[in-house]
Amino acid sequence: MKPQKILFVCLGNICRSPLAEASFWHHVTKQGLEHLFYVESAGTANYHVGQTPDSRTIRNAKKHGIDIQHLGQQFVVADFDRFDHILVMDNSNLRNVLSLASEQYQKEKVCLLRRFDSENYESDVPDPWYGDEVDFENVFHIIHRCTENFLNHLLVSTKKE
Ligand code: 4NP
Repeated sequence: MKPQKILFVCLGNICRSPLAEASFWHHVTKQGLEHLFYVESAGTANYHVGQTPDSRTIRNAKKHGIDIQHLGQQFVVADFDRFDHILVMDNSNLRNVLSLASEQYQKEKVCLLRRFDSENYESDVPDPWYGDEVDFENVFHIIHRCTENFLNHLLVSTKKE
């Protein structure tokens, strides 16, 4: 079976989406499913292309046993063809990504990550960039549970096909 390709997208690609990528992969490896998935992350802006993630994100993830290895990259139109699912962190990312979609099939690949939240449903993963440790910790828990629920959703929908 061909691996399903997942792209997580935020604004800067240094806080939320690299964490989502690493967190999703953490859940994948825990279940020994590495052969079924391929994952990357990107930002809608080009501010941090080629940069390592924010040190606060790296530190917080490490505290929870997750190692983040990533260099910033910008979302490009070709990603609509490279990926099967594009998960965005907030409504602003959603608007930015959809503004680059010219075909219906491209729009159908895009979804808010918090659609897979099981607790306190709000549609945005808040941007922790201007926040403090507490905000990074809060974002970690949102992303960690949503990526796990998203993985389980993919496993159930794959079984049905
Ligand atoms: P992210 O957070 O979108 O979760 O990576 C941000 C990081 C940097 C900036 C904005 C958001 N920035 O304006 O540089």
